[in-house]
This record gives sequence, C-alpha cells and structure tokens, in this order.
Amino acid sequence: MYEDVILIIGAMKDVELDVLLNKLELRNVVEEKSCTFYEGNLLNNNVVICHANVGIINAATATTLGIMKYNPKLIWVEGTAGGHAEIVHKGDIVVSTGIINLNSFRTGCLGKNEGSDPFSWELKRYGHLPQDVESIVVAASEKLIELAKSVENEFVINNPSSKVHYGIIGSGDAWNKEADLIKHYSAKYQTLCEEMESAAVFQIARNYDIPVIAIRSISNNEIHGEVYERELGQKAQEYVLYMLKNKKEK
Ligand code: 5AD
Repeated sequence: MYEDVILIIGAMKDVELDVLLNKLELRNVVEEKSCTFYEGNLLNNNVVICHANVGIINAATATTLGIMKYNPKLIWVEGTAGGHAEIVHKGDIVVSTGIINLNSFRTGCLGKNEGSDPFSWELKRYGHLPQDVESIVVAASEKLIELAKSVENEFVINNPSSKVHYGIIGSGDAWNKEADLIKHYSAKYQTLCEEMESAAVFQIARNYDIPVIAIRSISNNEIHGEVYERELGQKAQEYVLYMLKNKKEK
C-alpha cells in the first residue's frame, strides 16, 4: 500500500495520459473492467494514474475504485475540453474553481406539439447527497487552485501562445456543438469550457472529503470554429507535471 497517493484520472490513454505514463516510474498495473490503474512514482510523488475511459459513468467507476484501492490524499482529473467562453481558445488551459453537472436539469413545462426549449432548462443538483445543500457548483480545493496558480508563469513561459483561465467547468455526457446553446451555458452558468468526466469525479471526491481539481487543455472551440486537435491533450499533462514538480519543492 502506497502512502499519500495522488490519483490522476484521464479519459483517453493516447490523448490525455501518454505524456504522464511515459514519465512514470511504473511499479504495478491493475486492470479493471472499464479502467486501468498505473501505480508508480512521478517526480518524487506516489502517483496512481487511472485510464478511466470516456464519460461520466466510467469516471464514477474509476473514482470510486481508485478511492477504495488507494485511499488517495488528492484527486486530479485532467485532459481535453471544448471552449465555452469567448476568451477561451484552443491551446489554453482551464483550471477548475468548480464543476457543474450539465446532465442535471429540469425542463420547462410544454404540452403536445409545443416543441422543446433547451434555453429554459434549469440546471439542478439532482445527484448531490440530500445533506449537501450548497449551490449546483461543486468547488475545487482552494489549496490545489493555489498550487495550479503557482505554476502558471512557468507554464506560460514555455507555452507562450497559451493562456491560463480559472473558473467553472461544465461536465456531462454530451459534446455540444450548437454555438447558441454553448453561449447560453457560458452566460447563465459562467462555464469556461465543457468535458465529460469531472462532474462525477468532483462529486465523489467531495462525498469522501478528498481535495480535488480539474486541469483541462482546450482542444476545440465550437463558437470560434476551432476544430478538435488531439495533440493539445499534451498541454494539460504538462501542466500537471509542473504541479507535481512544484508540489515537492514547497
Ligand atoms: N465536449 C465534451 N467533451 C469534450 N472533450 C474534449 N472536447 C470536448 C467537448 N467539446 C473530452 C471529454 C471526453 C473526450 C471526448 O474529450 O472529456 O473525455
């Protein structure tokens, strides 16, 4: 059993985990049905890198199994995302201050032949525990946000075309490509970007009181017509490497 494990979760091995796995001093591999855990040492940290596969249900499985197996002290989820806010462009980094679940909503009331109006749908917190009466936002750990901020300069010096943003990430089993709907989410809920795993990871981490953060590199932005580029998955991993390096230096 390793001590003080950082559980790092990513959905796609070749896009979102290859850089980290190449640098990992591997100790052991544990395969489950929907996910694989790579145990090892990364920049002097006990790390378990979890290849979770895509989507909320796989992320929930990976997070729960990861907590049961390794009792991690921190959970980091990283990978690609699609931009929502005007200021967010391909190649940028988004550091989560919190997550909202885009799959949790109540529709308006419309009768037969009255169509559908997604703009009137209200995001809810249906999946939260009953005693959890906070807002729809599940907050990231303040300390981890500070750690992320502390490496921003170093990252930007080495990636001069990238900006680093801090804010809300929308998360759900959807790839939204409608500009008006994306703008609506961003205006109403302040989402900077969207992806498909963090809603599950954050909620489960909160249920177990484990500090959590999401680091995402923007691989596409539908409102700016910036098409998906898988190589940009490397940037979120680079950012995570700076965080791991800086963490030990403190
Ligand atoms: N919308 C939703 N998910 C996205 N991802 C990258 N871009 C987007 C987007 N625009 C991420 C998800 C998922 C995979 C398909 O890529 O988190 O893991």
